[in-house]
Amino acid sequence: MPGQLRIITGIAAIALVAGAAAAFAVAWRPQIAAMAPPRPDTFDPDIVKRGRDLAAIGNCNTCHTVHGDGNYAGGLPVPTPFGTIFSSNITPDAETGIGSWPEEAFVRAMRSGVGRDGRHLYPTFPYDHFTNVSDADDRALYAFLMTRQPVHASPRANQLTFPLNYRPLIAGWKLLYLRSGDVPSDAAKGAEWNRGAYLVEGLAHCGACHTPRNALGAERVNAQFAGGDVDNWHAYALNDTSRAPVRWTADALYAYLRHGWQADHGTARGPMAEVVGNLATVADSDVRAIAVYMADVSGAPAPDRKSPTDAVAPSAAADATQANATGAAIYAAACASCHEGGRALPYGGVNLALSTAIAGPDPRNLLNIVLSGVGAVPGERSPIMPGFAASVDDAQMVALANYLRSKFGKRQLWKDVDKAVRDARAVQAASLAAGDAPADSSQRGKP
Ligand code: HEC
Ligand code: HEC
Ligand code: HEC
Repeated sequence: MPGQLRIITGIAAIALVAGAAAAFAVAWRPQIAAMAPPRPDTFDPDIVKRGRDLAAIGNCNTCHTVHGDGNYAGGLPVPTPFGTIFSSNITPDAETGIGSWPEEAFVRAMRSGVGRDGRHLYPTFPYDHFTNVSDADDRALYAFLMTRQPVHASPRANQLTFPLNYRPLIAGWKLLYLRSGDVPSDAAKGAEWNRGAYLVEGLAHCGACHTPRNALGAERVNAQFAGGDVDNWHAYALNDTSRAPVRWTADALYAYLRHGWQADHGTARGPMAEVVGNLATVADSDVRAIAVYMADVSGAPAPDRKSPTDAVAPSAAADATQANATGAAIYAAACASCHEGGRALPYGGVNLALSTAIAGPDPRNLLNIVLSGVGAVPGERSPIMPGFAASVDDAQMVALANYLRSKFGKRQLWKDVDKAVRDARAVQAASLAAGDAPADSSQRGKP
């Protein structure tokens, strides 16, 4: 999910902020002395196991592993408008990883984004959320990472232009935006809700994708869960501005997060599919806690929110077929058999009137889905849809998107769909190229 690392986008403006002398006062952090890597058998296996689940909730693997490698050796190249940033090696290799880090240094990195050597880390590492992780959970994460296989792999140096490559500027950002202890708690709402709040606002960092960011790349406090961007995907609003045609309930959220799909909402794709994949090994009670808290966050349903049966009822007003014969014909020939075929999920597609992709604020997710299809989730009875990148050309794709929007979304047409189609194709081509990159860590240094 490289795009999440575009958090860095706003850091350009830090240059302005960091002029403040105050930033310099906190810019210097002491080094913490290195130690010999601890022997793996000095860690309690139960704590290591707990750490494994916590690492899954925190998506550590997704960012710290080159696609498909699964080894925490870092090196994931992340393009940003200002250059490329690479994730760190967090295996216990003493030289190139965090093997020489005492627990204290690890906790400081999680809480305040500072490396063992004292340098400030870019907030692409979501420590603005991890700062809320408890001592016990940090200890378990540390135990888990220190018992992985050490991998000797120096990630390449970030390729950022000045002034972004000047790390002390990050101190200015932290002064403005790094707040610990932001986790809401409310005894009256019960243990499950409070556990959910702790996970969602901390380790699971749901807001890192689902909250829009300001010009400095920080999450907007007054727009929590109002929808954000990651890669070329929209991470839908999850608060009361959600466009989901049917309101999310705690049960629906639980099913979606547990299995990757839910009958009234469809499937998780793109970066969200990775989040769900990571949650697969996490205890049921934690997934349920996340669902309970998020359902509460989603607030009162918007007035146009419907029950599943109302949402799919044909509307007399939508005479989209006449208005857009090309789109209607493609839909009838290539899509309707699955999406109106009466086969229940996971084997059929949802009625598209239920899809947030079509009701959403822009067409990116829809286009990504139609171009690439929906792949099977390993180990799950999960939905499959073929990709249409090769069989539908750009003009047809625009016609199809417009048709779906008016027929099923019953909303105003999106703007600039043709540009969105070109962008989606370019991103698809780039990700196919990246997916083909060698998983072998010895090859990783090469472009
Ligand atoms: C969204 C992507 C992302 C996620 C999720 C993520 N990290 Fe990172 N992490 C990064 C990047 C990028 C860096 C490098 C930052 C820099 O160079 O300034 C980093 C740096 C670090 C560092 C500092 C290493 C060093 O040598 O300075 C540690 C420790 C770390 N991450 C641990 C974790 C743990 C533990 C988790 C899961 C709980 C995690 N990260 C999840 C992206 C991520
Ligand atoms: C790495 C970025 C990222 C993170 C982290 C993330 N999400 Fe998502 N999420 C997305 C994207 C992108 C989509 C849209 C995916 C799609 O179109 O299938 C999405 C979709 C969703 C949806 C579907 C909404 C709808 O109306 O269809 C829900 C619910 C959701 N996420 C909940 C969560 C929760 C809860 C967490 C934290 C445990 C979380 N997400 C963490 C990126 C993310
Ligand atoms: C072979 C069956 C099949 C065909 C053909 C097919 N789909 Fe799908 N589609 C699926 C399945 C299965 C899913 C995943 C379940 C879901 O989310 O609806 C899906 C998901 C989707 C989604 C996401 C719905 C959501 O928000 O969860 C959209 C949008 C979509 N398809 C559009 C199309 C379009 C447009 C076409 C024709 C160009 C098409 N599909 C052709 C089976 C199919």
